[in-house]
Amino acid sequence: MPKSIFVSNVLPAEALALIPSEITVEYNDTDRPLAKPELIRRLKGKDGLICHIISAVDEEVLGAAAGLKVVANVAVGFNNIDVAAARRHGVVVTNTPDVLTETTADFAWALLMASARRVVEADHFVRSGQWTRWQWDLLWGHDVYGKTLGVIGFGRIGRAVARRALGFGMRVLYHDAVRADANAERDARATYAELDTLLRESDFVSLHTLLVPETRHLINERSLRLMKKTAILVNAARGPIVDEAALVRALVEGWIAGAGLDVFEDEPKIHPGLLPLKNTVLAPHIASASLDTRQAMATLAVRNCLAVLDGKPPLTPVA
Ligand code: GLV
Repeated sequence: MPKSIFVSNVLPAEALALIPSEITVEYNDTDRPLAKPELIRRLKGKDGLICHIISAVDEEVLGAAAGLKVVANVAVGFNNIDVAAARRHGVVVTNTPDVLTETTADFAWALLMASARRVVEADHFVRSGQWTRWQWDLLWGHDVYGKTLGVIGFGRIGRAVARRALGFGMRVLYHDAVRADANAERDARATYAELDTLLRESDFVSLHTLLVPETRHLINERSLRLMKKTAILVNAARGPIVDEAALVRALVEGWIAGAGLDVFEDEPKIHPGLLPLKNTVLAPHIASASLDTRQAMATLAVRNCLAVLDGKPPLTPVA
């Protein structure tokens, strides 16, 4: 029986070209999310699924996909997949770590810098013709150099974000459920702190945890009230880590100074309270969106899928 793969959304041709011709590929070459019944229908009889985070692969989908052996997510985060259900159904789940670490860390810094130095507001100010004279107190922002960065979630991306702080002469605190070893702390020049200490002492708080039940609304009214009034929150991880309604209140009422957000609780819907806020930089979930990185992610996902179909261990299984 020839093997078959369903690619549920668009992938670069270079990645698709890795699939040997004897494997049948059904390909939805759009970036339109499939409704669950369509996903279930098109997954029937397939051995592998290569998908993006817009595909919700839950118990119902997995239960209907008899014979499915692997779900290869084209992302490092995998909260769109019910991993426990996959395990029960004997389906391997893989993700795409490492290849997107530096690009994602770059973008967290882009949000940090843009928020601190009001880059988006400045751009709008110039384009809209409001710049008519030099002004002493125009668009004052927050210094970055020499300040304290708090990194929540000290995995690959959190560490890459921390390492970049060296060039800005920053003190770096980190918090994670598991304390890193001394070498990792030394490499990133980061000091472990309890969550509340990190929130109280950081000028910038950047989120890099997985979305799991323990991290849902980790940033909530209580944590936002612990932060400095001058602090800026950056989220390039997953939206539901932040209680967005509480964040809107924090930004409107001045509990914190600003936010740079690439992800949202119910994306692509945005909390309407965020849209008019000038102290907030919003991006459409693009932290890993560079040409090289997206190609590397797609290639890794395809390789993961092929390895499992070939009876080999996947390169990057989800633990
Ligand atoms: C993107 O959000 C990813 O998890 O890779």
